[in-house]
Amino acid sequence: MRRPLIAGNWKMNGTRASVRTLLDGLLSGISSIKNADVAVCVPYVFIPEAAQLLAGTAIAWGAQDVAKEESGAYTGEVSAGMLKEFGCRYALIGHSERRSYYGDSDAVVAQKFVAAQKHGVTPVLCVGELLAEREQGQTEAVVERQLAAAVKIAGIAAIAQSVIAYEPVWAIGTGKTATPAQAQQVHAFIRNWLAAHDPATAQSVRVLYGGSMNAANAAELLSQPDVDGGLIGGASLKVDDFLNICRAAG
Ligand code: PGA
Repeated sequence: MRRPLIAGNWKMNGTRASVRTLLDGLLSGISSIKNADVAVCVPYVFIPEAAQLLAGTAIAWGAQDVAKEESGAYTGEVSAGMLKEFGCRYALIGHSERRSYYGDSDAVVAQKFVAAQKHGVTPVLCVGELLAEREQGQTEAVVERQLAAAVKIAGIAAIAQSVIAYEPVWAIGTGKTATPAQAQQVHAFIRNWLAAHDPATAQSVRVLYGGSMNAANAAELLSQPDVDGGLIGGASLKVDDFLNICRAAG
């Protein structure tokens, strides 16, 4: 059985004060969640605060991106080694906002995946199609291309030490969630594609759904056999909503 993972993606939100309030709120409710892993992926500058407040608790923390390079003259970048030093368990890789606004190509995403793993930070590899791609029947081809780029550079065995997040771009921040059946179809495709390379990896890797998941729709999405958790944007900024999603998972 794969243990569900619910990960918050705070994106570029929060203040020092709101971060403390949000984390305190999550900590006061976390003891009721027994059968799911919980994590928050916070803006870089809040990572020390998260590390301080969450160390030794059931909530893990992580970053929303990572540099593909090790160190050196890369102004503005943050390396996987730095994330590790601040206790990050996860780093989101290839989120659609990184791909579309900052030009993260499949090849760059694959390099970031490798860089994170090299330092023991678990990459959460985000994949997903645009609305136009779905309408043209290209969903599976797009997801396959994105997965294959990571497998080509990192190798299939590395996927077992990662998390995959299927996030249809048309569902992110739009309030338009994929139906449970739509999500399950792509999740099953991802697992079958991985199984063709390595059945054990396919069985063990967690595939999260992301895109307007909220407290009202989480239970149904999470009940799908190949949906192993959620990557939560907007609803992760509200204590009760995020905790209710976590409860729906376990
Ligand atoms: P959303 O974002 O839950 O606000 O749609 C999800 C994500 O971008 O990871």
